[in-house]
Amino acid sequence: MNLKKNAGYKAAEYVKDGDVLGLGTGSTTHYFIEAVGKRIQEEGINVKGIPTSFQSLLLAKEWNIPITSLEENDIDLAVDGADEVDEEFNLIKGGGAAHTKEKIVDDAAKKFYVIVDESKYVENIGAFPVPVEVIPESSRTVIQTLEDMGATPEIRMAEHKDGPVITDNGNFVIDAKFEKIESPAHLEIDLNTIPGVVENGIFSSMVDKVIIGTKDGIKEL
Ligand code: A5P
Repeated sequence: MNLKKNAGYKAAEYVKDGDVLGLGTGSTTHYFIEAVGKRIQEEGINVKGIPTSFQSLLLAKEWNIPITSLEENDIDLAVDGADEVDEEFNLIKGGGAAHTKEKIVDDAAKKFYVIVDESKYVENIGAFPVPVEVIPESSRTVIQTLEDMGATPEIRMAEHKDGPVITDNGNFVIDAKFEKIESPAHLEIDLNTIPGVVENGIFSSMVDKVIIGTKDGIKEL
């Protein structure tokens, strides 16, 4: 059973004719974009998409989803994956290094739905390190500050490329593992006050609905 696919296809059922969609990034959102593409093909619905990464841009083009931007349109519904989601709907995102644009798009949407398989639904977020996108020149000083805050930070290294991951915005990502995240909302704000930090992967107080693919079927919260 493909739990990510089930969650992505379920979210596509909420898309209405005329919607402007925020298109998240990752392997779960991949199925949402595919399902929207199929609805365009089969039902002729008229929607537009605002991508959160080069990955979702290319995928949307593959499925003939017309592309627009936040300059031109407001977003009716954003659908995105997550690396972790807790019972209070706090998220950790950025496992694919796309969290900066994801946060801009997901936050701007009138409705924001998260799609995950059941392994991502946790009691407290924090087992997954918090991705922190930084201006490259600031990485050493940001690492020092993160250590002072009690985290174990590491610059994310690329696969199939020598050196660090470079984000779609031309920056580095530091993965910061905290022993325990007491208050996601406070940590989200604190991380963004470090000079050189562009955005971090904690998303608190943004989610309207969580769609979970489980072995027993879809669960909606
Ligand atoms: C991209 O940077 C991330 O925020 C993804 O949305 C998140 O990592 C979920 O990805 P998967 O659906 O591939 O697990």
